[in-house]
Amino acid sequence: MNEQALSVRDAIISRRSIKNFNGQPVDPENIAEMLEDAAWAPNHGNRNPWRFVVAADKEYVKFLDILREYGVPKWKELSEEDLEKQMKKFTGPGAVAFVIVPEDARQKERLEDYAAASMFIQNTQLLAWDKGIGTCWKTPGFLDNPKFREELGVKQGERIISMLQFGYFDEIPKARSRKPLNEIVTYYGRDSEEV
Ligand SMILES: Cc1cc2nc3c(=O)[nH]c(=O)nc-3n(C[C@H](O)[C@H](O)[C@H](O)COP(=O)(O)O)c2cc1C
Repeated sequence: MNEQALSVRDAIISRRSIKNFNGQPVDPENIAEMLEDAAWAPNHGNRNPWRFVVAADKEYVKFLDILREYGVPKWKELSEEDLEKQMKKFTGPGAVAFVIVPEDARQKERLEDYAAASMFIQNTQLLAWDKGIGTCWKTPGFLDNPKFREELGVKQGERIISMLQFGYFDEIPKARSRKPLNEIVTYYGRDSEEV
C-alpha cells in the first residue's frame, strides 16, 4: 500500500532532527533515491557544489570502526560499557552521508555553494521524513581531521560540511519553538504596530 506523501508544508513543520535512532539498518537504495531527488535544490551556475560519501546498512556497520577511531577520543582506555555508551551516537543510525563541498577561493561563490549544499541537505531531510526515516545534520570536530578527510578521500579545496545521519526511531522529539514572526520580520513602510 502506498501511503500518501506529506504535503510540503507538513513535511517542513513536522520534521525533527532525530538524535535517538533505534539501530535499524537503512537500505542504501533508499538513500540513493533521496539524494537523486534532493539534487533538484537550487544552485548558482548549475555548479552542483556537492558530493557524498555514503555508508549504509552492512557497510555502515563496517564504517563504525572508523567512527570509533575518530569520534570517541581515547576509546582504547574506556571500559567496554563506557565505549558502548559513547558509541550510541554512531550505532543508533543505520546510515550516514558525508556532504562534501568545494571551497571556492572566491568568497561569493564559496557562500553560494555552502548555501546550495545546505538546501540539498534540507531537501534530503524532508524526503527522508516523508519515508519515515529520521535524519540529523551533525558537525563533529573530526570532520576537519586531516586523517579522517584522507580516509574519506576528501581533496584539498574541499570541506566536509555535514555528517548527515539517517535512521529509524521510536519517538519524535519535542519541537523547540521558533521565534515568533513579529520578532524576526519588519514590514518596510509600515508602523511596527501595524501588521
Ligand atoms: C548546520 C547545522 C549543524 C548542526 N550540528 C549538529 C551537531 O553537531 N550535533 C547535533 O546534535 N545537532 C546538530 N544540528 C541539529 C540541530 O541541533 C537541530 O536542528 C536543532 O536541534 C533543531 O531541531 P529540529 O531540527 O528538530 O527542529 C545541526 C544543525 C545544523 C543546521
